[in-house]
Amino acid sequence: MSERDYRRSTFHGFKPYVAGKPIEEVERELGLSIPIAKLASNENPLGPSPKAIAAIQEILPRLHLYPHDDSWYYRQAVARHHGVAFEEVFGAAGSVEVIELCAHVFLEAGDQVVTSEKTFAIYTLATMKAGADLVRVPCRDRYWYDLEAIRARITPRTKLIFLANPNNPTGTWFSRDAFDAFMESIPEDILVVYDEAYCHYITRDDLPDAWAWLQKGRDVLILRTFSKSHGLAGLRLGYAVGPARIVSGLIQGRTAFNLSSLAQAAGVAALEDTEFVERSRRFNAGEMAWMGEALQDLPVTVPPSQTNFYLVDTDRDAQVLFGELQKRGVIVRPMGGYQMPHAIRVNMGLRAENERFVEALGALLR
Ligand SMILES: Cc1ncc(COP(=O)(O)O)c(C=O)c1O
Repeated sequence: MSERDYRRSTFHGFKPYVAGKPIEEVERELGLSIPIAKLASNENPLGPSPKAIAAIQEILPRLHLYPHDDSWYYRQAVARHHGVAFEEVFGAAGSVEVIELCAHVFLEAGDQVVTSEKTFAIYTLATMKAGADLVRVPCRDRYWYDLEAIRARITPRTKLIFLANPNNPTGTWFSRDAFDAFMESIPEDILVVYDEAYCHYITRDDLPDAWAWLQKGRDVLILRTFSKSHGLAGLRLGYAVGPARIVSGLIQGRTAFNLSSLAQAAGVAALEDTEFVERSRRFNAGEMAWMGEALQDLPVTVPPSQTNFYLVDTDRDAQVLFGELQKRGVIVRPMGGYQMPHAIRVNMGLRAENERFVEALGALLR
């Protein structure tokens, strides 16, 4: 019997991304009488964009046909939406596909990637798979990207920088001034991947304009997803906009037919669903304000957030809290994997779900 490990050596040293069990399974195991409140994946509690649903229903009778391989209409729609060229748009099965492709296409052993220590886990996993070296730069004041420290870690081997703004899992952000100073001070031949997954939830007006740097001709690749404010996480849909020569690299690396015809049609429709995005944004702002205030009564530290979730730091073991909250019908994300063993991340659900979370956490911490 063979015990040969067929994996490339870069796959030996890490565990895959774990996203938690299906909620139906958790409900069954716990014998819960109420539907569980899943507040663990930063999804949209208002459901999917209605325009996207209608577009999907229209496509269903044509599912026997292959989709446009190069996502023609979808990329055209994104290009129009942002006033960029078709060749500058990559149609992606979610932002994570772009992140993985960046590593797969652009990185090799010896290259160095710089990012923050407390940021989206896929940056780390993708870099490790590619066999490149990863520099994870400590946060400022525990929860904040430190752009100056990131710049200080750049070496001639640095090829790519991953930035999430606002950031997951902290919810914090860096300002336009900080980003402009950063871009002015770094070499121009480094690819800056600027991940805007939560951009529609931003309520401040001092966040960066990464698009302006792209217009100035810099190597910036901007990532957008339909998983959050458009409520289409299950569809796997996003895009990247960047210089055409970088986008053409992503196209080389992608799987043929990477976007289903359902995803492409939904994407065109969802881009136009400004009404739903606005409703999601308003709803989120209301719940963030409510929960932000409610959490002030508990013995927790909560950094300010420009997203649809809060990082909640406690003095308890997050894994234990996660289990106890789950028994009370709430699923959150424990942050042990992000070197925050006492923190959980909770996204906004409907008001009754948010109340259940705050009550349950309060009962556990008091
Ligand atoms: C910063 C960030 N980037 C990307 C993603 C993933 O987006 P997608 O669902 O489009 O793959 C997430 C999801 O949580 C995220 O927080």
